[in-house]
Amino acid sequence: MESFKVLVYCFLVFHFIPTSNTLETIVPGQSLKHNETLISTNETFEAGFFNFGDSNIQYFGIWYKDISPKTPVWIANRDVPLGNSSGVLNLTDKGTLVIVDSKEVMIWSSNTSTTAVKPSLQLLETGNLVVKDEIDPDKILWQSFDLPSDTLIPGMRIRSNLLTGNYTSLVSWRDTQDPATGLYSYHIDINGYPQVVIKKRNTLLFRVGSWNGNFLSGISSTTLYKSFNISFVITEKEVSYGYELLDKSIVSRYMLTPIGQVSRYMLSDQTKSWQLVFVGPSDQCDNYALCGANSNCDIDNSPICECFKGFIPKSQEKWSSQNWTDGCVRRVQLDCDNRDRFLKRMGMKLPDTSKSWFNKSMNLEECERFCIRNCSCTAYANLDVRDGGSGCLLWFNNILDVRKLPSGGQDLYIRVAASELDHSTGLNKKKLAGILVGCILFIAIMVILGVAIHRNQRRKLENPEQNQVFSLSNHTDNKKNEDIDIPIFELSTIAIATNNFSIDNKLGQGGFGPVYKGKLENGQDIAVKRLCNTSGQGPKEFINEVKLIANLQHRNLVKLLGCCVQNDEKLLIYEFMINRSLDYFIFDQTRKSLLNWTRRFQVICGIARGLLYLHEDSRLRIIHRDLKTSNILLDENMNPKISDFGLARTLWGDEAEGETRRIVGTYGYMSPEFATRGFFSVKSDVFSFGVIILETISGNKNREYCDYDDLDLLGYAWRLWSETTPLELIEESLRDSTVGAEAEILRCIQIGLLCVQEKADDRPDMSAAVLMLNGEKALPNPKEPAFYPRQCDSSSGTSNLHSNNDVSMTLLQGR
Ligand SMILES: *[C@@H]1O[C@H](CO)[C@@H](O)[C@H](O)[C@H]1NC(C)=O
Ligand SMILES: *[C@@H]1O[C@H](CO)[C@@H](O)[C@H](O)[C@H]1NC(C)=O
Ligand SMILES: *[C@@H]1O[C@H](CO)[C@@H](O)[C@H](O)[C@H]1NC(C)=O
Ligand SMILES: *[C@@H]1O[C@H](CO)[C@@H](O)[C@H](O)[C@H]1NC(C)=O
Ligand SMILES: *[C@@H]1O[C@H](CO)[C@@H](O)[C@H](O)[C@H]1NC(C)=O
Ligand SMILES: *[C@@H]1O[C@H](CO)[C@@H](O)[C@H](O)[C@H]1NC(C)=O
Ligand SMILES: *[C@@H]1O[C@H](CO)[C@@H](O)[C@H](O)[C@H]1NC(C)=O
Ligand SMILES: *[C@@H]1O[C@H](CO)[C@@H](O)[C@H](O)[C@H]1NC(C)=O
Ligand SMILES: *[C@@H]1O[C@H](CO)[C@@H](O)[C@H](O)[C@H]1NC(C)=O
Ligand SMILES: *[C@@H]1O[C@H](CO)[C@@H](O)[C@H](O)[C@H]1NC(C)=O
Repeated sequence: MESFKVLVYCFLVFHFIPTSNTLETIVPGQSLKHNETLISTNETFEAGFFNFGDSNIQYFGIWYKDISPKTPVWIANRDVPLGNSSGVLNLTDKGTLVIVDSKEVMIWSSNTSTTAVKPSLQLLETGNLVVKDEIDPDKILWQSFDLPSDTLIPGMRIRSNLLTGNYTSLVSWRDTQDPATGLYSYHIDINGYPQVVIKKRNTLLFRVGSWNGNFLSGISSTTLYKSFNISFVITEKEVSYGYELLDKSIVSRYMLTPIGQVSRYMLSDQTKSWQLVFVGPSDQCDNYALCGANSNCDIDNSPICECFKGFIPKSQEKWSSQNWTDGCVRRVQLDCDNRDRFLKRMGMKLPDTSKSWFNKSMNLEECERFCIRNCSCTAYANLDVRDGGSGCLLWFNNILDVRKLPSGGQDLYIRVAASELDHSTGLNKKKLAGILVGCILFIAIMVILGVAIHRNQRRKLENPEQNQVFSLSNHTDNKKNEDIDIPIFELSTIAIATNNFSIDNKLGQGGFGPVYKGKLENGQDIAVKRLCNTSGQGPKEFINEVKLIANLQHRNLVKLLGCCVQNDEKLLIYEFMINRSLDYFIFDQTRKSLLNWTRRFQVICGIARGLLYLHEDSRLRIIHRDLKTSNILLDENMNPKISDFGLARTLWGDEAEGETRRIVGTYGYMSPEFATRGFFSVKSDVFSFGVIILETISGNKNREYCDYDDLDLLGYAWRLWSETTPLELIEESLRDSTVGAEAEILRCIQIGLLCVQEKADDRPDMSAAVLMLNGEKALPNPKEPAFYPRQCDSSSGTSNLHSNNDVSMTLLQGR
């Protein structure tokens, strides 16, 4: 399967002509020479001539003044670069901007149609280059915002004219070093209900989606969007899309890359470099109409395409061979009367709206009634999801390009014949009766059990107030963080699910307490983490904190299903991962072989993405502090999911100064500055990540490994690296599957070593590590890692401090 790579184009080397002269305004008669620049009032942006290393190819553009490497956000003459370094920008008497070369030949013009009396050119703080008339300063004669290049910055809008059909769009560069008009375009498609699309020439590749009141329907990362005021405005004449920053301290840009992906970057406060926070298309399901008509794409399923209920593959044979282009057809034709029903699918990216119909004032019931009256109407949804939903969006005939979103998403109602519903539920009345009786008996037993347990606990209870179950409505004071309703479970429910925390159900012992397997009444498997009560945190603060953590959602993070705070118990309820954890495989002699190199590489990349999300995405920067192979859980497809994230924070709060009296972590994974001084930062997680990479390649535990020189695994890897035989690190059972992938493994070893370098500052941050893993960033040479030569005894490293190497340690240090 084709895997999508996240390409980042912000590490380019730009050559800017050294300038000593900066201007603020240009009036006719004045000009901007190749060695002069125009700067905005508060010096955020700068405009002038630049090149990409070849001074015979010059462009006039706008870039961030203080961000290095320089990042152009707009280019005037992208298709007609200047030959040789002597371009001049002039403002004519009539207010037209022209660029002329050294022979006074005009190579670019702003073509302003209106004429001005007293024009002036100015670069605004927003990065907008404008020509104004001094006579009427409010009137803008021309602005660069009307002529987007490949980048959308705050305040800028792309527009589509509903009357003429003309539109402005982001157009990709041809190449990372060539800003000429490329193949891809990002604009608003005004057919049906307007939606934002990416096209390659005339082929639709990806729908970012239609507007749902909050954001575009194909976007799931809702946490990110809290920093933006995104607006999609539909008027009689035009549709436009743009964004503003709510938090002025953030710097963000949105661009269409030369390979046709939209990427949103934010400037990291710490590293002063661009961090990729969103990219689309991001996986296979984002391919336009990959699964054909009337089907759903779910990246977590295998195969990823499924027909909607009531539909079957048009050609079973092709469908089975994973050619989904023909899509699905109805099993039973619609009755076309009031007996047809609608099936609700939740968490969806809405179908292609280019042939849809919409009405802003109808509500959902009116929408359903309207749909059922027209036989070719096949699905409906709310137009606007805010305030419980309003408006009506209707689809006719086939619906295309629907996917399940990893988080967020909308409700979609799909029309099926009434018989389809009877078909599945009322098939066998005897069986049904049997199930019913079974259910009733089961519920009765549960109720009796529940009452018994509840009574039992009542008796034990000393402080009755603590027994209170906190529901969301109890504390709405912290409204901002409540985008996600986290279910609060009753202790009794969990006690039943885990057979009263029976030892048989114990999955293991984590750093923060034991973990139990359980099964909820509805049959769902869960993992329950029973937290040791070490914090002084009250139940209310605890729940608020858990809610913050539940807001973090990512494919590579374990999903938190709920929590429970009752009596002295604090429980976290997670989804259950069938394939346990990474250590269960890579350190086991027989199970080792189940994870070949391709899988291991996927695991490494997945961990990196999850960690990048924790470190950079949410405004709630999470440092894991206890990253290790046993905290990397594997789902049924061997996708890695980081667990226990945010726990340190939940239990002890976030010590912003980055120094903690409690050192929590696991020997072998702790960075030296953390183990010795309790100093933590994102770079301590990077260290642990490096250890995980090396362990995954070598199949050995860092702490238990002991070679003839008494080196730990890091020391051993470093020695092999210095002796230029790094590939000897590869585990024996892995060798077969690594043929042909040596370069990839070598890269991983080098990244592993870069991550475990002694000095935190030398280690890459996670965004750099992700780029390196994708092979899109050059790898520096690693320096010596932090490793510990020592006397090892034959059995198990130096672990006389503690009996079990895998258990997280909590040390209390006085300060
Ligand atoms: C800019 O370059 C021109 C020649 O192209 C030169 O005459 C002028 O002095 C330079 N100005 C500055 C400020 O360096
Ligand atoms: C551009 O400006 C320069 C200097 O002001 C002037 O010499 C030149 O003639 C102008 N060219 C055009 C095309 O206006
Ligand atoms: C420039 O900065 C000053 C001081 O921070 C601020 O008052 C002013 O509004 C800013 N001007 C613009 C155009 O942003
Ligand atoms: C630019 O410079 C190259 C060589 O440096 C020369 O061949 C070419 O004629 C020049 N072009 C112009 C327009 O001056
Ligand atoms: C200005 O007009 C000329 C001729 O009509 C055209 O070639 C050029 O592309 C236009 N420039 C812009 C920036 O639209
Ligand atoms: C729309 O585009 C056409 C050709 O691209 C152009 O002739 C026309 O002037 C444009 N209309 C407006 C209102 O910009
Ligand atoms: C968001 O932008 C719209 C229009 O651009 C404006 O009306 C609205 O007040 C803004 N909202 C916030 C919260 O700034
Ligand atoms: C899938 O089926 C379509 C139409 O039935 C056909 O055009 C296409 O070539 C097939 N794709 C592959 C990869 O076989
Ligand atoms: C939208 O629905 C409302 C209420 O049903 C109706 O009054 C209005 O005419 C509809 N608008 C259109 C354009 O159909
Ligand atoms: C059903 O809707 C379609 C698409 O809007 C329209 O062409 C057709 O006339 C409608 N049929 C009826 C019976 O209203």
